[in-house]
Amino acid sequence: MSDYHAVIETPTFNFAKTRADFPILATQVRGKPLSYLDNGATAQKPKAVIEAVERYYRSENSNIHRGVHYLSEQATNAYEEARVKVAGFIGAADSDEVIFLRGATEGINLVAHGFIETVLSEGDEILITHMEHHANIVPWQIAAEKTGAVLKVVPVLDNGELDLEAYAAMLSERTKLVSIVHVSNALGTINPVQGMIEQAHAQNIPVLLDACQSVPHMEVDVADLDCDFFVFSGHKLFGPTGIGVLWGKRSWLERFPPYQSGGDMIERVDFEGTTYKGIPGKFEAGTPHIEGVIGLAAAIDYVNELDRSAALAHEHALLVDATEKLSAVDNLRVIGKAADKASILSFVIEDVHPHDIGTFLDADGVAIRAGHHCTQPLLKRFGVPATARASFAFYNDFEDVDRLVQAVVKMQRFFG
Ligand code: ALA
Repeated sequence: MSDYHAVIETPTFNFAKTRADFPILATQVRGKPLSYLDNGATAQKPKAVIEAVERYYRSENSNIHRGVHYLSEQATNAYEEARVKVAGFIGAADSDEVIFLRGATEGINLVAHGFIETVLSEGDEILITHMEHHANIVPWQIAAEKTGAVLKVVPVLDNGELDLEAYAAMLSERTKLVSIVHVSNALGTINPVQGMIEQAHAQNIPVLLDACQSVPHMEVDVADLDCDFFVFSGHKLFGPTGIGVLWGKRSWLERFPPYQSGGDMIERVDFEGTTYKGIPGKFEAGTPHIEGVIGLAAAIDYVNELDRSAALAHEHALLVDATEKLSAVDNLRVIGKAADKASILSFVIEDVHPHDIGTFLDADGVAIRAGHHCTQPLLKRFGVPATARASFAFYNDFEDVDRLVQAVVKMQRFFG
């Protein structure tokens, strides 16, 4: 069993101070303290993010790229500085390759649109995996329907790891894109994407990485990974909702036509024809989510100021502790037992629907997610319609783990 008191403390990761940075964690839920274990769905926001958004509205609010006045200049600078910050955070050398969108879902849709318009034709293959989120399945199904391409799916093994032999065998000259999740939102599996990217590139196949659940839980560098596209959402990285990032290699983004059109993405409009801005402007039509971008930049600053390796080691210790303790509970089955996991602990209990687990735990102040986690094909493969899912962040502690386990045990007694 892990040492209950083994909270990691370093000069730059003071747990008590870190936890206090997130005001919502002091919430009382139905008279009980909150144990927020639904970080996979959305993470909480530190004061620095809340204040950055408030500061923007108090003293900088203005539209960007359009005004010559002071406030517009302030807002434009903040927005464009955020782009440079995001690029640095993910290891991208060229900040023009960073596109701000509504979320990771929109990023994948943009790439799918680009592939429909410029790459795919009848008989081509798009390779995804059985553990993808619906956001990395449905856009490719639509792309396949529109172009006559075929969607291929890499199987998942019983322990929740990808079948890498099958993956290698499925890559072929027909494969036009590999689109894979870095960390599974339903299983917690960390996929060995570096090797998978190398294998795809050996056959000149580009790779899109869905990094929604990896970016908040590990150091990620697009230059090291050498992926071709990379998407993540701000709200899982302690930033605001409604803002996400697509990073893509310049050559690909320049090749793609606009995904949406309107103001601010054009160079010149005439009734005879229109010319577009280069990247990133070509993909940011309309007034963007300015405060979302500013809040995301504040979240990145916050994360950068943490001792990240200590914070992530602490978070991992929670996952290990919770896995050990829940695995010992009668009739409880952990779904997803990969050797390499991050943040996510999915489980089912015989004869209790996961929604009942979620509701029962909520009465004790423990917030988890219950459902299919937008991965219906994956859960079908494991023979369950839904799971209960606890997901950890660095501001959780061992007391949260114990409250989760106690609430599960209490619920089992209740259901007999
Ligand atoms: N995709 C998010 C989750 O896994 C919402 O909960």
